[in-house]
Amino acid sequence: MKYSRITGWGMCAPEQVLTNQDLERIVDTSDEWIVTRTGIRERRIAGEGETTSTLSIAAGQQALERANVAPEELDLIIVASSSPDYFLPPVSSQVQHGLGARRAGAFTLVAGCTGFVYALATAHQFIATGAYRKVLVIGTEIISRFTNWQDRNTCVLFGDASGAVVLEASDQPSGVLSFILGSDGSQSEALIVRGMGSAMPATYEVLDNHWHQIEMDGPAVFKFAVRVLGHAAAEAVAAAGLTIEDVDLFIPHQANLRIIEAARRQLDLPPEKVFINVDRYGNTSAASIPVALCEALESGQAKEGDTLVLVGFGGGLTWAAVTLQLGVVQAASRYMAWPFNKVRERIHSAAVAVSSTASALLLPLFTRGDRNQ
Ligand code: ACO
Repeated sequence: MKYSRITGWGMCAPEQVLTNQDLERIVDTSDEWIVTRTGIRERRIAGEGETTSTLSIAAGQQALERANVAPEELDLIIVASSSPDYFLPPVSSQVQHGLGARRAGAFTLVAGCTGFVYALATAHQFIATGAYRKVLVIGTEIISRFTNWQDRNTCVLFGDASGAVVLEASDQPSGVLSFILGSDGSQSEALIVRGMGSAMPATYEVLDNHWHQIEMDGPAVFKFAVRVLGHAAAEAVAAAGLTIEDVDLFIPHQANLRIIEAARRQLDLPPEKVFINVDRYGNTSAASIPVALCEALESGQAKEGDTLVLVGFGGGLTWAAVTLQLGVVQAASRYMAWPFNKVRERIHSAAVAVSSTASALLLPLFTRGDRNQ
């Protein structure tokens, strides 16, 4: 079996910044409400001429340059996105053409905000089986074009961006060490664009009712996220034969600072082991984790030899986590202490399970408290 290493990374965020103060002029909201409830201070909004394909191509080019891989060398491109340029063609083919990746297959993967982690796990399969050697994985969203700018429940949350990584086959133990994927379709209506699909094609009624834009049951998604985030991370770490103490950096989906903080406490991680940039980008859905990964690598917060956990949740509802080793594994002893690690991890997983259940049970009390503030 081959390992799949990250050899390049890139990101593209639109230049246009929308601050909380700007939003105060659009809907009935306040900087204070947005910051205390979400941690978001500003987000990027795509400008004229910017689309999901143009942002993806820019991020992909950067990742390819950093990896020193020519577009023609790519075997496959996976674009995770819920906001493609068009229903047809798939945005992945536009990206493949725009990059000049003549040999590459391409497909778009839709798993809401969890899309990039699903795509990374999928790309890893093609490499682990020996089928492909070089895969470009991109997460991109332009949610602002599907946002109801009169709905304060959603319009303050989202932003636009793209992030990409190049995965290459390696014989050295490194890269994707484990993954877990999850889905609970019983909660599909909690986050939905109900119009414009085969269930509800375009009509004036769809447009009049804003059914072509995002609707969200915020508290339901919040409860779900608090329940799955820490749990998914702990499971992925255990599947890699590691313990939470072995993790150097936790990169969660950047949707809401309170959700991230709840997961951090469940996992008993110190703040410096959790990457946060939700304050500057808001929730960029499938782009959030690759953009956070790029910024962590750029800033040196994530470096060669580090063990990372990427964990997402989102529309579906879905969740997914990947344990990842940057560079080549140096500390072989970590992996050789397998039976001991297994015991330690079982104890930790049990603790996280108890803590997640307790959080879910106590959540109504917390949210009631929040409302009263
Ligand atoms: N400004 C001011 N007041 C607001 C705003 C706003 N922007 N939005 C809602 N409110 C009001 C509500 O109307 C409500 O008022 P009421 O009590 O008079 O009815 C009050 O604030 C509290 O609303 P809640 O929804 O209970 O607020 P909550 O504390 O749950 O926070 C939030 C809302 C931030 C949306 C939270 O539920 C959340 O983050 N949920 C998860 C969202 C998420 O992560 N979604 C993305 C999933 S990923 C993907 O795939 C795209």
